[in-house]
Amino acid sequence: MQAVVIKITKEMGSLDVCFLLLLLMISSTYACDRCLHQSKASFFSTPSSLSSGACGYGSSATSFYGSHLAAAVPSIYKSGSGCGACFQVRCKDSKVCNKGGTQVIVTDLNKSNETDFVLSGRAFMAMANKGMGRTLLKLGVADVEYKRVPCDYKGKNLTVRVEESTQKPNYLALKFLYQGGQTEIVAVDIAQVGSSSWTYMTRNYGAVWDTSRAPAGALQLRVVVTAGYDGKWIWAKSVLPADWRIGGVYDSGVQIDDIAQEGCGECDEQNWKL
Ligand SMILES: *[C@@H]1O[C@H](CO)[C@@H](O)[C@H](O)[C@H]1NC(C)=O
Ligand SMILES: *[C@@H]1O[C@H](CO)[C@@H](O)[C@H](O)[C@H]1NC(C)=O
Ligand SMILES: *[C@@H]1O[C@H](CO)[C@@H](O)[C@H](O)[C@H]1NC(C)=O
Repeated sequence: MQAVVIKITKEMGSLDVCFLLLLLMISSTYACDRCLHQSKASFFSTPSSLSSGACGYGSSATSFYGSHLAAAVPSIYKSGSGCGACFQVRCKDSKVCNKGGTQVIVTDLNKSNETDFVLSGRAFMAMANKGMGRTLLKLGVADVEYKRVPCDYKGKNLTVRVEESTQKPNYLALKFLYQGGQTEIVAVDIAQVGSSSWTYMTRNYGAVWDTSRAPAGALQLRVVVTAGYDGKWIWAKSVLPADWRIGGVYDSGVQIDDIAQEGCGECDEQNWKL
C-alpha cells in the first residue's frame, strides 16, 4: 500500500488554512482492518524505561493499558504518528505462550531492527501460559506475530495535555492522550470557540503538536484522522477553557472509533482467544 499526502496551503483573508488530502492507493493484494505481521519481541524489565521516550507520554504512560507498553521500530513509530497505536502481540512457542497474547500501546521508539517491539515486562509476561512466565523471561526474545487493533479507553474521550514547553500567550504545545480506534492523527487545527479562523498545528514530536500562533480565549480543535480508505475530520467544539493552564489535562468531549484500512499480504480478522 502507498499513502500519498498532498498538502495545499491557501490564503483565506489573513489566515492560512491548511487542507490535507489523503489519497490512499491500495495497490497490494488485500485491504483489511488487520494485517498479520511476523517478527520478534524482547522486553524491558521496568515499564518506566519505556515511558519517558520518543512519544512524550512521560510517566503518564505507565497508567495506559495496565502498563502494557511497547517501544516500536521506526516503521511502526512512523515519525510519531504511530504513538498511541494499539497492537495485539502473541508469541509463537505454543509450549510457553498462550494463543491470545497481549494488547500493548506504542509509547516509544526503538531503532534496533532486531525486534519490531520491545515490550514492558508486564506485557511480555502476559503472553506466557500459566506458570511459564519465568521461562519466557529467560528466553529474553520471542518469535511473535502481531496485528494492529483498535484502542479502547473504556469511556475516556480523546484528551489533550498542555505541555510544559508552552509559553503564553502565543506558543502552545498539546499532547494527545487516549486516542481511540485504529487511526493516525494527520492534521490538527485550532481556533477560538465560535470562530472560524483556524490556525494549523504541526507535529513537534511523538504525540505532541504545537503552534506559535495560538488564538486567545477558549479553544476548539479539529483533527484529521485516517479512517477507512480516506481521511476524516473530528471536531471538538470546546476543549481548552479560556483560563487553560500549563500542565492542565482537558477532555475534548469526542472520541475516535474509526478503523483505517491497511493494505497487506495477509489479513487476520480473527479474535485471538486464550
Ligand atoms: C532496543 O531493542 C534492542 C533489541 O530488542 C534491545 O537490545 C535494546 O536494549 C533496545 N534499546 C533501547 C535504547 O531501548
Ligand atoms: C539492521 O540495522 C543494521 C544497522 O543499522 C544494518 O547494518 C542491518 O543491515 C539491518 N538489518 C536488516 C535485516 O535490515
Ligand atoms: C466524553 O464526552 C461526552 C460528550 O461530550 C461527555 O458527555 C462525557 O462526559 C465525556 N466523558 C468523560 C469520561 O469525560
